[in-house]
Amino acid sequence: MSSTIESVLQESRLFPPSPQFVKQANISGMEAYRKLVAEAERDFEGFWARVARETLLWSKPFTQTLDESKAPFYRWFYDGELNASYNCLDRHLKSQPDKVAILFEADDGKVTRITYKELHREVCRMANALHAHGIKLGDRVLIYMPMSIQVVVAMQACARIGATHSVVFGGFSAKSLQERIIDAGATEVITADGQFRGGREIPLKPVVDEAFAMGGCEKVRNVIVYKRTGSSVPMRAPRDKWWHDVVKGQAEQCDPVNVNAEHPLFILYTSGSTGKPKGVQHSTGGYLLWAMLTMKWVFDNKPSDIFWCTADVGWVTGHTYINYGPLAVGTTVVMFEGVPTYPDAGRFWKIIQDHKVNVFYTAPTAIRSLIKAGGELPKKYDLSSLRLLGTVGEPINPEAWMWYHNTVGRERCPIVDTWWQTETGGILISPLPGVTPTKPGSATLPLPGIFADIVDETGQSVGKGKGGILVIKRPWPAMLRTIWGDPERYKKTYFPDDFKGKLYLAGDGASMDEEGYFRIVGRIDDVLNVSGHRLGTMEVESALVANSKLVAEAAVVGRPDELTGEAIVAFVVLKGHRPTGDEAHKMAEELRNWVAKEIGPLAKPKDIRFGDNLPKTRSGKIMRRLLRAIARGETIAQDVSTLENPAILEQLKQAM
Ligand code: PRX
Repeated sequence: MSSTIESVLQESRLFPPSPQFVKQANISGMEAYRKLVAEAERDFEGFWARVARETLLWSKPFTQTLDESKAPFYRWFYDGELNASYNCLDRHLKSQPDKVAILFEADDGKVTRITYKELHREVCRMANALHAHGIKLGDRVLIYMPMSIQVVVAMQACARIGATHSVVFGGFSAKSLQERIIDAGATEVITADGQFRGGREIPLKPVVDEAFAMGGCEKVRNVIVYKRTGSSVPMRAPRDKWWHDVVKGQAEQCDPVNVNAEHPLFILYTSGSTGKPKGVQHSTGGYLLWAMLTMKWVFDNKPSDIFWCTADVGWVTGHTYINYGPLAVGTTVVMFEGVPTYPDAGRFWKIIQDHKVNVFYTAPTAIRSLIKAGGELPKKYDLSSLRLLGTVGEPINPEAWMWYHNTVGRERCPIVDTWWQTETGGILISPLPGVTPTKPGSATLPLPGIFADIVDETGQSVGKGKGGILVIKRPWPAMLRTIWGDPERYKKTYFPDDFKGKLYLAGDGASMDEEGYFRIVGRIDDVLNVSGHRLGTMEVESALVANSKLVAEAAVVGRPDELTGEAIVAFVVLKGHRPTGDEAHKMAEELRNWVAKEIGPLAKPKDIRFGDNLPKTRSGKIMRRLLRAIARGETIAQDVSTLENPAILEQLKQAM
């Protein structure tokens, strides 16, 4: 990590926002930012109470701001009540009923627009349908859907009646889906027959059926199926029902169920350093507050904006910056079903041109792949509508940043490199576009009210010009509340005893330069970031060893990758003999497909190497740092004297 820290600390190019941008910005100029930071420092609870009162519509106003009595199980605004769907939809019904809420572009280019009034009606009908199925406050609804207007309707309908949704990304396998249905205790599933991506049809309902066939999903009483592709799918009565049938005849009004600010709005599963994904549980009040504020502060949201976040709704970025944030502030949000390279690598630029997108938010991995697929392509399109660009999900290398700035932003648009996590609910460290001079590859400064720092193993601040562990020193309203069903793991993972349970441990390494700018270097735990998707090395290992017919042992590590940020490398010991040549290639392919079946295609190892054994200490512990060095093609400089079987290193280096 130290060489990366060295090189990023040397980045000195500075890009201040233009005076025109500063003038019109919601937070305008460094002084305005400092004032907010100072307000939060001076009167922490007063600051949060003020913004929560000004931003959200409360059905019952809160009188208490922060409850720390059960820390680290913090509660915010906990005697207040509100409804998230009311805050996203009803609040716009008088002021802008006919404004387009979602502009949806399908894989084949077909565009569908839905206004706030229409969206409200569809959400009410689905909410009534869920009610009719007996879904009530606190029940869990699992959503496994493609990018569509309907997935937003499904999420909002849950929020409207106080049901907690758990969206599972459509690329996850039946096994991953089954585990999440069981862990969340879902009683209803909403899915689609399939989806279109890159001209291909990908089934969804058959995956749900497979998940059910694995057993354990008996609590689910109804499966609602949205007809997207029209392909025939088996429907098992009385459990399976078509979306269009369940909403037929439902009333177009549905009174929102007002819930406590702490009520779980959603659970979203994410990877950690064990084999079992964590159900990150978010609140209603604190989460929604931050979704709205960051739309205004970081994305400088204006009533006339067309806002496009390219994330999938199955990830937290889609939750906060496709659904809740954009709708609550009443913007027009673009949603895209397909992939950036279909029908060609100009698709993103064409969408920006066609829909006159003003604010564009994407991932470094997409930027890198589009540079590779046609670095000059953006020049063929009219991108003059753009006024602000954003990135999220992984560190952006300065070269990609500069390309984004020059070729996409035409040197006019500020870039917000936003650092956050599933657990943080919204952006915590990011430039403010009308405030912060940006530096390529730096997430710059914490937002007002967020107290971030970099510490050593003992929890002491390392100070400017150094690297260490990224922590958040005070709670914030949008933070996760717990891990669903596992409060102990929540405590251990995020508020470890090493830091006296006082600091939120993000799991990232970072450094701070002389200006106090943060640079996020990457994970410090056993979590990989592949194309901006989080994956636990243990998860992939468990998937591999679950193949008990073939696999005796497996160890998984990450390796830097130009395109995907990190790539997965698996070292595998088979039960039979060690394959070489063609046989090894075939076996690797078989195991890759196995992992895709166990977790999803996104978890397929890029490289699989076979050995007679793994490098172990005499006590039998796998020495992963040696495997990391081999995966990266580095010479092994470390001491290997504690190794039981040094010869294995040579074999693994040569393998495949
Ligand atoms: O390692 C950090 C990286 O993504 C992780 C969070 O992943 P996830 O929960 O899936 O959420 C992704 C979208 C919010 C972080 O721990 N990460 C996220 N944003 C950045 C980043 N790394 C560097 N720079 C960023 N801007």
